[in-house]
Amino acid sequence: MRVVILPSPDDVAEFAANVVTAVVNTKAKANKSCVLGLATGGTPMGLYRQLVDRYTRREISFRGVTTFNLDEYVGVPPEHVQSYHYYMQDALFKHVDFDSNANHIPKTWNCDLTESAQAYERAIKEHGGIDLQILGIGTDGHIGFNEVGSSLGSRTRLKTLTRRTRLDNARFFSIAEEVPRMALTMGIATILESRAILLMATGISKASAIAGCVEGPVSSNNPSSALQLNPNVTIVLDEEAASLLKHHEYYRDSESVLHSLSVNSMKIECS
Ligand code: GLP
Repeated sequence: MRVVILPSPDDVAEFAANVVTAVVNTKAKANKSCVLGLATGGTPMGLYRQLVDRYTRREISFRGVTTFNLDEYVGVPPEHVQSYHYYMQDALFKHVDFDSNANHIPKTWNCDLTESAQAYERAIKEHGGIDLQILGIGTDGHIGFNEVGSSLGSRTRLKTLTRRTRLDNARFFSIAEEVPRMALTMGIATILESRAILLMATGISKASAIAGCVEGPVSSNNPSSALQLNPNVTIVLDEEAASLLKHHEYYRDSESVLHSLSVNSMKIECS
């Protein structure tokens, strides 16, 4: 795992925007299709703002880029302001130049949820898999909505949300009781198949989950620890989120060595 520790949440957003821009532009230059995996929540908002700004400055175009979001609540219609469909339209999709039908988010409204989950897996495969998956992390280490105890071999499926996740996400709803009890989420095995993964975390509330993700045992007790199994993962953190890492100094040293040698450690396949 590459662990990058930066001073502030703005720096984390800028780093992530640089990675996304590099992947999209490298693929476009090579005339290859590009598939991004996208996340929701408070953390990636700064990333999406940066991408919209860069699009406005003509530094990036999303023509030919396909996206797959990690998850969607069950029981919330797509036009509801707290649905992840609404979030993505509002934060990114409506501001940039994606082709029509390029953006995929699990369907959870007026449909057979088991069939919807299987169709999502098929669609990811039909598009050749995900080039770069963006992730946030829950305070208990969940990724997507793969809650504590999720099988490391799980695929896209229906998942019951924990009380802690519902309380954490209650800040986005007018009343806590409105937070849905279930979601459809990519599985851990689905996420691990991505060719590159970038996990963003900021703030002290994520410090313990990040320590388990990077330095803990691989365990469904902290689902993000499964990322240790993918050889092309970057974890980008602000100081607070990094504050419980034991090998803090080593990660900083590694980054300065990479810089001094001008090595870009994230591999983007263009074959
Ligand atoms: C939800 C999402 C996750 C996200 C997490 C943390 O549970 N399903 O994908 O990582 O929230 O969100 P935040 O960035 O708001 O802390």
